[in-house]
Amino acid sequence: MTTTDATRTGPTTASAADTARVLGLVLAPVVAQGVIARRPRVVGAAARLGLDARGVRELQRLRERYGTGPVRLPIPGRPMALVLDPPDVRRVLEGTPVPFAADSWEKRGALRQLQPHGVLISPPGLRAERRRFNEAVLDTGHPMHRYADAIARVVREETAPLADRDVLDWDGFITAWWRIVRRVVLGDGARDDHALTDDLRRLRQAGNWSWLAPRRRRRYARVRDGLRRHVERADPGSLAELVAALPAGPDVDRLDQVPQWLFAYDPAGMATFRALALLAAHPAELDRARAEVTDPAAPQDLPRLRAAVLESVRLWPTTPLILRDAAEATDWDGATLPAGTGMVVPAWFLHRDDRTRADAHRFHPEQWLDGSAFDDPALVPFSAGPAVCPGRELVLFTAATFLAVLLRDRTARPPFPADRPLPANLSPFTLRIPLTR
Ligand code: HEM
Repeated sequence: MTTTDATRTGPTTASAADTARVLGLVLAPVVAQGVIARRPRVVGAAARLGLDARGVRELQRLRERYGTGPVRLPIPGRPMALVLDPPDVRRVLEGTPVPFAADSWEKRGALRQLQPHGVLISPPGLRAERRRFNEAVLDTGHPMHRYADAIARVVREETAPLADRDVLDWDGFITAWWRIVRRVVLGDGARDDHALTDDLRRLRQAGNWSWLAPRRRRRYARVRDGLRRHVERADPGSLAELVAALPAGPDVDRLDQVPQWLFAYDPAGMATFRALALLAAHPAELDRARAEVTDPAAPQDLPRLRAAVLESVRLWPTTPLILRDAAEATDWDGATLPAGTGMVVPAWFLHRDDRTRADAHRFHPEQWLDGSAFDDPALVPFSAGPAVCPGRELVLFTAATFLAVLLRDRTARPPFPADRPLPANLSPFTLRIPLTR
């Protein structure tokens, strides 16, 4: 709901009972599904019980009762505020890192396990330099990464073994996807380094518990040794080559930037697999998307396939909650938001709020093709503002190329009925997508 000044309420405070409801019915189900590493069984249970849809209804109720907010949740020891109004979302994300720090308390607790010096949990003074290095390696802002040729070749090679399948399930998909990710990020020599990505997965699982889990220092040291080996080898055409070669400021720990990329490519796999399901359920769009693949051997921009992936992360955001910490007291519509407030942007709610969005539960790729979605402050699958995902173009290119190669001479059949509203949760782990030549 893009509000006018007349309908805005400014900050309000939820009662203790409503705060408990939000914690139990809205935030707990999202956190329980695994914020840093998904827990497949909990994701499946959440889908069966329709927990994300219930969370949307709860926040709609909260907004009716307390207005557009931000709605403060007076949680003892950790006051929070829910940012429910799109203009406020823009204000918070544009105001990063000052006054709204990206290295929120919960994120620092979680990500210290795998990347204590990564950009995402860097204090404002160190952030700019680390951000510059990330942008340089990831070619932020460029639809085609400088290594697009090499990436497309890797995707073609690793997708080939899927050619004979009649059905693509999660296990088949994710095995190919991780080979792609290891080769793109760490180089061809890392293709089968499962030990490294398994160790990283364990660190992410510990990260799910934020400050409640002790640091796994030995495992982290092992991951760093592995990353160092790959970066020193610097396979041509890999991000590791750029990590070794590009200039970096004195406060940039090069190796510590890499876990975020490997980690983020994992939910990107879920987004890609769900995009395939969306296309399969919408045969006319699937045909249009396949038609844009003109030369299967060359890297291409592929706007329609990118739009399908963007819709996938709009409908099922892989970062359902975007967190910021108010580093200083902020004047907000005449009221004061105290320093230390944890600002919670519930992306999944904003994307699926059927009181304000006609497309809340349907596939709507055109909005990414005509650009309107990029200007919509309610749509933040990649966040927005100075801490917007710097890997956005790279991951969209990787995912769209994967779909192009897979669908080049095949078509996919719907894994769920297309004539009904799209489900609020869609577990990728149990999806099976029939493929025909
Ligand atoms: C579907 C795929 C992806 C989605 C939806 C996504 C989304 C996001 C979001 C929402 C944030 C902001 C988090 C926050 O503010 O707390 C973020 C940050 C980030 N992402 Fe992504 N991401 C994806 C894939 C990737 C990939 C593949 C890479 C690298 C290869 C990457 C690199 C980063 C980095 C380095 C940051 C931290 C930026 C900063 O703190 O300034 N992401 N991403």
